[in-house]
Amino acid sequence: MEPSATLDSLAQELRVFRPLPQLVVEANVNPQELVAFRRQAERDPLGYWEEAADELDWYRKWDRVLDDSDAPFYRWFPGARCNIVYNCLDRHIETANKNKLALIWEGEPGDSRKFTYYELYREVNRFSGALRTLGVKKGDRVAIYMPPLPETVIAMLACARIGAVHALTFAGFSAKALRSRIRDVDAKLVVTADAFYRNGQIIKLKPIVDEALVGGADSVDSVVVVHRATVETDMQEGRDFWYDDVVRRERREAPAEVMDANDPLFLLHTSGAAGAPKIVQHSHGGYMVGVSRTLTHVFDIKPTDIFWCTADLGWITGHSAVVYGPLLAGTTTLIYEGHPNYPQADRMWNIVSKYGVTVFYTASTLIRMLMRFGPQYPRMHDLSSLRLLGTVGEPIGAETWLWFYRHIGRGECPLLDTWWQTETGMFMISPLPISILKPGSVTRALPGVEVDVVDREGASVPPGKGGLLVVTRPWPAMMTGLYGPGGEEQYRAAFARFHGRYLTGDVASRDEDGFLWILGRSDDVLNIAGHRLGAAELENAFRTHPAVAEAAVVGVPDKIRGEAAKAFIVLVEGRKGSTELMVELQNHVRRELGPVVVIKSVEFRESLPKTRSGKILRRVLKCAETGADPGDLSTLDDEDAPE
Ligand code: WTA
Repeated sequence: MEPSATLDSLAQELRVFRPLPQLVVEANVNPQELVAFRRQAERDPLGYWEEAADELDWYRKWDRVLDDSDAPFYRWFPGARCNIVYNCLDRHIETANKNKLALIWEGEPGDSRKFTYYELYREVNRFSGALRTLGVKKGDRVAIYMPPLPETVIAMLACARIGAVHALTFAGFSAKALRSRIRDVDAKLVVTADAFYRNGQIIKLKPIVDEALVGGADSVDSVVVVHRATVETDMQEGRDFWYDDVVRRERREAPAEVMDANDPLFLLHTSGAAGAPKIVQHSHGGYMVGVSRTLTHVFDIKPTDIFWCTADLGWITGHSAVVYGPLLAGTTTLIYEGHPNYPQADRMWNIVSKYGVTVFYTASTLIRMLMRFGPQYPRMHDLSSLRLLGTVGEPIGAETWLWFYRHIGRGECPLLDTWWQTETGMFMISPLPISILKPGSVTRALPGVEVDVVDREGASVPPGKGGLLVVTRPWPAMMTGLYGPGGEEQYRAAFARFHGRYLTGDVASRDEDGFLWILGRSDDVLNIAGHRLGAAELENAFRTHPAVAEAAVVGVPDKIRGEAAKAFIVLVEGRKGSTELMVELQNHVRRELGPVVVIKSVEFRESLPKTRSGKILRRVLKCAETGADPGDLSTLDDEDAPE
């Protein structure tokens, strides 16, 4: 966003949804308790987080809750010793959770594997031992380039258990992207699979690792290969080992490494929607406290839950909401190997009914993709086990929200729109199941989190105006640094502009009731005839037209107005683009948002460029229009999507 003014917010949402009375009665946090939590957190934020920390197990407690002497390099729980894996596994096997399912995995061909907490604990110990035998020590980085398999979770936990730092790379990335990520973190070992199933095909993975390691990933000593599919696999003598061989002789019981609360847990590249990816570092202590408290509050975890977050493990949602959060909470987490539309557009709903999923958390872009195929697909399955829905990743918009709420949640399941980032580690802004909801709003900051919407001087903007979203006080799961050359300056810069407040890079507005609305990334703000608008608002307006499945809007240069909006539209199944439809859509958006919004042109497309984590890469569309260089495209999803 240009540092000149605030934003205009033209859309108004008046619909309000309240939770069913029974749900309020059964909720872990009821409305009175939520008010009490908020009050406590406002009065004594450190005390609030200290109580959350007390719910977990530590080898040694902290000297202080927060050391801010070197701000913005905050240190949470200094002096404390812990291991997040102890809290994910060891703690549970002392309780009734021991024989409860920790992990359910479904392969794309329909095969399935299940692990109790005890079984997962023993598997993790064996792989931890194998890593040690292969020379991995505390502080070493391990690259994990894996499809969603149980061994991916096992590898993450096995690293953390011995104090090694994991760095995941999505299994769809090219050899070149993998090589640069391995180099970025100086990985000592790579964990991969021979192949995996995706969209009915067997995709070979190991050859990509071989290619990445040729000519320039000298830090890597060994590669561990998980056997998933029957393919011929070249193994390099002395460097490559089969997973089954390395774990065979390892012990099933071994203590976790005692870590300092601020020792690194993992490195993770951001999704790169707004520019070149940054390498975010999270640590054992604060991350564990923040993720555990927010996930249990937002998703109201019950002993009987089957929790399915559909995110790939290779991005932050996979870390916090597939692996660490659910296991800290002692719930059953589900992962699925394959494509959401394989063999057809009901696969997700098939899995929900097959396992009786109770909490379903997914990306708004995935819902939009599935919406295109119509409600007859969810109607083919019994979805009555669902009690909560969640969304993340991009502004969902009222239309998609309502579709998800009605067709998947029967109009009974609260839909929790969670706002957070790789950098924040944990949910920051989100309703709880007992909250009043407005479709498309992320509602309010969670207790213990404080945010504001500000103009370029840092002053709060009035209700109805958009501005920059900032976090005004440190939170426990905040990144503990940005890794690599220049990381320290990048980190400092995120806190510098507004004197210690964290600049999220998003634009948002707050309505008269105090509800927050995310308007998109600040790089995606358009300035049309003096009106500054978030891309999300325009896109949501397009999506209220029944012919539109997906929309992306970018600003392109315009002689008269300075900038004009260009829209890229994916139509619902069965609709064809035409000049009449283009004019109809232009008029529709003007009716929705007002006459100031002039859409210069509409282009119909089969699909939109997205990152592998499902975010629209608007800068790719914009640069194609203006001829500028789109920069780093390593996170672009170039899979032949069936959409
Ligand atoms: C966007 C994903 C609107 C936002 C956990 C943020 C959202 C970026 C929402 C971080 C939401 C995430 N509504 N926008 N509920 N959640 N975003 O690092 O722009 O992959 O800054 O973390 O996604 O993406 P990241």
